[in-house]
Amino acid sequence: METSDEEIDRLLGKLTVEARVSLLSGATTWRTRAEPAVGLREMVLSDGPAGVRGQAWDERSTSVLLPSASALAATWDEPLVERIGGLLAAEARRKGVDVLLAPTLNLHRSPLGGRHFECLSEDPELTGRIGAALIRGVQAHGVAATAKHYVANDSETDRLTVDVRVGERALREVYLAPFEAAVAAGVRLVMAGYNAVGGTTMTANRLLTDPLKSEWGFDGVVVSDWGAVRTTLETARAGLDLAMPGPEGPWGEALARAVADGEVSEEAVEDKARRLLRLAARLGALGDTRPPAPVRLRTREVRALARRAVAAGAVLLANRDVLPLDPGRLTTVAVVGAHAARTRTQGGGSAGVFPQDEVSVLDGVRAALRGRARVLHVPGPRPDGPAPALDQAECTDPRSGRPGVLLRMLDADGAELYAERRGGGRLLEPRLVPGAHTVEVSARLRPRTAGTWTLGVAGFGRMSLALDGRTLLDGDFPPETDDPAVIHVDPPARCAEAELGVGQDALLVARRELAPGTGRAVVVSAAPPAPDVAASVAEAARAAGAADAAIVVVGTTEYGECEGRDRTGLGLGATQDALVRAVAAANPRTVAVVNSGGPVELPWRDAVGALLLAWFPGQEGGGGLADVLFGRAEPGGRLPTTWPAALADAPVTRVRPDDAGRLDYAEGLHVGHRGWLRERREPAYWFGHGLGYTSWAYEGLAVAPVVLSGEDLLVRVRVRNSGVRAGREVVQVYLARPDSALERPERWLAGYAAVRAEPGEAVTAEVRVPARALRHWSPEEHGWRTEPGPCRVLAGRSAGELPLAAEVEVSAADGTS
Ligand code: BGC
Repeated sequence: METSDEEIDRLLGKLTVEARVSLLSGATTWRTRAEPAVGLREMVLSDGPAGVRGQAWDERSTSVLLPSASALAATWDEPLVERIGGLLAAEARRKGVDVLLAPTLNLHRSPLGGRHFECLSEDPELTGRIGAALIRGVQAHGVAATAKHYVANDSETDRLTVDVRVGERALREVYLAPFEAAVAAGVRLVMAGYNAVGGTTMTANRLLTDPLKSEWGFDGVVVSDWGAVRTTLETARAGLDLAMPGPEGPWGEALARAVADGEVSEEAVEDKARRLLRLAARLGALGDTRPPAPVRLRTREVRALARRAVAAGAVLLANRDVLPLDPGRLTTVAVVGAHAARTRTQGGGSAGVFPQDEVSVLDGVRAALRGRARVLHVPGPRPDGPAPALDQAECTDPRSGRPGVLLRMLDADGAELYAERRGGGRLLEPRLVPGAHTVEVSARLRPRTAGTWTLGVAGFGRMSLALDGRTLLDGDFPPETDDPAVIHVDPPARCAEAELGVGQDALLVARRELAPGTGRAVVVSAAPPAPDVAASVAEAARAAGAADAAIVVVGTTEYGECEGRDRTGLGLGATQDALVRAVAAANPRTVAVVNSGGPVELPWRDAVGALLLAWFPGQEGGGGLADVLFGRAEPGGRLPTTWPAALADAPVTRVRPDDAGRLDYAEGLHVGHRGWLRERREPAYWFGHGLGYTSWAYEGLAVAPVVLSGEDLLVRVRVRNSGVRAGREVVQVYLARPDSALERPERWLAGYAAVRAEPGEAVTAEVRVPARALRHWSPEEHGWRTEPGPCRVLAGRSAGELPLAAEVEVSAADGTS
């Protein structure tokens, strides 16, 4: 039972102002403070959103890795996303995590956004609905969710300082709307972003109180993004409640002094502390009111759900009678591309986890065809990008001779303080011991390819890299940013080249000193000589030509799509493009599988037999995609974002702030498909588009002739499965107000519903259009209004394919306007 507000006030009464203040900063990077006087234990927070990392950034602490957010939104399936939320909660409980730092509710404003993969969609309605489903799923099991990053944190360039300028109406109708839906779904925390809006940094912004806490009635905790609190007074006076991480930071003693000096009111501190205790009570962290443990999911069930989610979010963009492939009719299948064997299962940055296991597309296809057809894998040319971190399959710990690397912590004289064998070259949090001065990572490589290798070390400060005692790199590399995602998670690699022979052992030793402000991450990488591009493309084409069907997997790299930086282009690179063209030319039954978090240019899209988006599919990616490729599951996905043919076509490409640090959201309301429609531009594929394995006829649309303002509108759409296979269709409803006196999007998504039908069967989708889809924000009156007059209701399968239309009169007859 929930602790009452009276009880929380009683507990609060036992705490001095200083004690209250001390609750408001983190105890550590991931924990809040305990307060034995009121029976408050520490609460553990963790990223999010595609898995639950826990408190350790360590390959030995593995997590279930689910498809990334854009793939989840592509399902347009709230019950499924709710179940995924339940799975995340079970993971959180397993790892002792109370608060999940997810979902990310920022929008796909521009295809260049570095965290595109981590955001759900371009559309406020879809983002709000899917985000709310995830929140419900997580919170049903005694774990709190966090809606982040409040607000207008939609790109990465200068993300700590960028000052977003966005009109009041667009802010309300587009960027705040998903957060409003999250609050309505009962989200327990909201995270204030690094960025500023309207000239004020978000951790000190008025928007934290108005509308969040006042108008929307949010009674949870506003937590800062990590390191986003940079002042004491402004942030403490604003609606921010919890400054993370800790223990250092601009609150703590400085805030206690400010309260004592009367610069910050005691009431403000009391309100923050009350919210924190309320959260604790809800999580069972106050007294011994621990909520019941969530249903424990068995590994098989977890894997099956994660796999189902892959197929449900995979978007089939084009199919020229190639998919599904019939395993009974195949003798040989060529599986081509570096991403086939090393499928990119997640995006980079704070969302990253160490998965328990990863099923690549190649693994998935092999498993599906085992004993039925031969699978021929040709990696093709290497995609551009940095060398991958050392993997334990390719090196040994020089001390024990076992797979992995040797991590040593050294003092200032080079004496060993501790040593351990680790599983790979990506060591983000080597254990700190007193007197530690240098982190050393060494590995014995046994090359299987002779030639010029690229060897690298990533980190900051003084670093060196040596091969068999010969120095390859030695220098001082100070950080160029304070961005924690760059310093602690993705430091840039410094690389050198060295000649290695086959079977010749080579000892690689990387060192980095520990200096304040440089973090302690160190990543050691190695890449074999790149194969000759023309020869490897030709080899792939030969294999495809000799096979019954070819599956070519292409995608982005860690370098191209990652938190902490925006993308600079949408191209997959000349070599990957050449690879797809060559494979498609060699075999008309070529399926191109695209492994990216956000849109990429697909200049060969009309040349392939089928085109399937895999997104970053999580650990079960290969199994789920194989289910789709061989017809065991229908591709369930519909685009959550409009897919440009070329970057230059996209209506919003500006993500770099101007010289004054401002980023103007000049497109206003016209985000995503609305922007494409307004500019009369044709994308490669519209928002909402995606094919299943059957076809649908849109037969009729029924709607009441009049809707009263403030009321929902029920739209009935009759569709018939006109194909030969059972299937699921996502029926989408858009609104348009061509006669409006106001500026309006050309049309906007107002609702959707999924239906299933057998071949030949007709079903009616009941799409509820919420009253808010008919209202607009009036900046003049600072309120929501509904404009009376005619409204067009359109129904179909994407923002660009809407065969049915009807007219509704919006009436102000109930007196509200
Ligand atoms: C990210 C947040 C994340 C936090 C903690 C920040 O850099 O912006 O999304 O939750 O780090 O890892």
